[in-house]
Amino acid sequence: MKPIILTNEQETILFGSKIAKQCLNYLSKHDDTIVIYLIGDLGAGKTTFSRGFLQQLGHIGNVKSPTYTLVEPYQFDSFSVYHFDFYRLCSPEELEFMGIREYFALRSICLIEWPEQTNGILPSADLEIHLAYLAHERTVCVQAKNEKGQAIINLSQ
Ligand SMILES: Nc1ncnc2c1ncn2[C@@H]1O[C@H](COP(=O)(O)OP(=O)(O)O)[C@@H](O)[C@H]1O
Ligand SMILES: [Mg+2]
Repeated sequence: MKPIILTNEQETILFGSKIAKQCLNYLSKHDDTIVIYLIGDLGAGKTTFSRGFLQQLGHIGNVKSPTYTLVEPYQFDSFSVYHFDFYRLCSPEELEFMGIREYFALRSICLIEWPEQTNGILPSADLEIHLAYLAHERTVCVQAKNEKGQAIINLSQ
């Protein structure tokens, strides 16, 4: 997919909600896990995207950046979302301590900021969302990394 320009914060939120609707549509048909890597520099909009994603699914209130906690869990009726931020991960052992594998269960969606910090220990992504600066705006590009990812982005919202 060609990069799309997101001219302001609201457009990043809307983009997060669009992908959330597609994930929801996918989970309505499959008992599965969805892994989304969020890639981009500090301030590129990864947490903003996550906020749009979570609010679309019905989360009301703050979406805290999980920079210090590493993960914030969100429970919905028939699935869970785990929002990770590994920017401050010191060593991959921390992932073992937090029981990382448990999060990648059926009917969970994992949104992962800074997956690059984990030395390839995480399950691979179904989708990668690449966010980048364009002067005061941002661009976003979605890559399906496997058939599941392709199926998700082919679904209607
Ligand atoms: N499309 C956009 N255009 C301009 N600013 C944006 C856009 N999307 C997000 N921002 C702003 O960028 C800042 C950093 O966003 P954040 O989501 O915290 O980045 P990250 O999690 O990638 O470090 C926030 O102040 C947010 O309002
Ligand atoms: Mg962030």
